[in-house]
Amino acid sequence: MDPKMLALLGAKQSPQNMPGKSDLISAETPESNPAHQLLMLAVCYRGLQLASHNFHNLVARTVFGQDHSFFGDLYPKMEDNYDAIIERIIGLYGDSSINLQNIMMMVSQKIQDAPNASQENKVFYQYCEQMLKYILSEIEQMAPGCSQGTMNLLAGQADEIEVLLYKIGRRLGQ
Ligand SMILES: [Fe+2]
Repeated sequence: MDPKMLALLGAKQSPQNMPGKSDLISAETPESNPAHQLLMLAVCYRGLQLASHNFHNLVARTVFGQDHSFFGDLYPKMEDNYDAIIERIIGLYGDSSINLQNIMMMVSQKIQDAPNASQENKVFYQYCEQMLKYILSEIEQMAPGCSQGTMNLLAGQADEIEVLLYKIGRRLGQ
């Protein structure tokens, strides 16, 4: 990634001027930098997109049909959200931070704890619940420095996530 863009995104640079994995996803990066916050949000969406697609494929046994459908609806929603955030970044800050390899490296870090084959479909919901709550908290911290248009975009995504959390909560019997 271009060092100037890294600086804009608030990421620290290693001595080789290459971003370390932890630098790009670290909570040490400035929370007040909207470009960086948006990129981290996009990484979460891409991560949840890939994880929920995998859950769609892995669910089995009890209520297979409903669970297969739920995750089958979730992953394209997360892809749409990823797409909207990336396009917003490009529109507002240019495309220098949109590097496939860097983004996939951060996504890989983000979904390290995603469950694989399980005896119980609920573990897939629990993972999604955790990720969606995290995304919601990231959106809620986004306010300062964001444009009104970005705020509107994020408000729509937060609205959708609250509905998803309600559905997941009901499925988990909470
Ligand atoms: Fe499918």
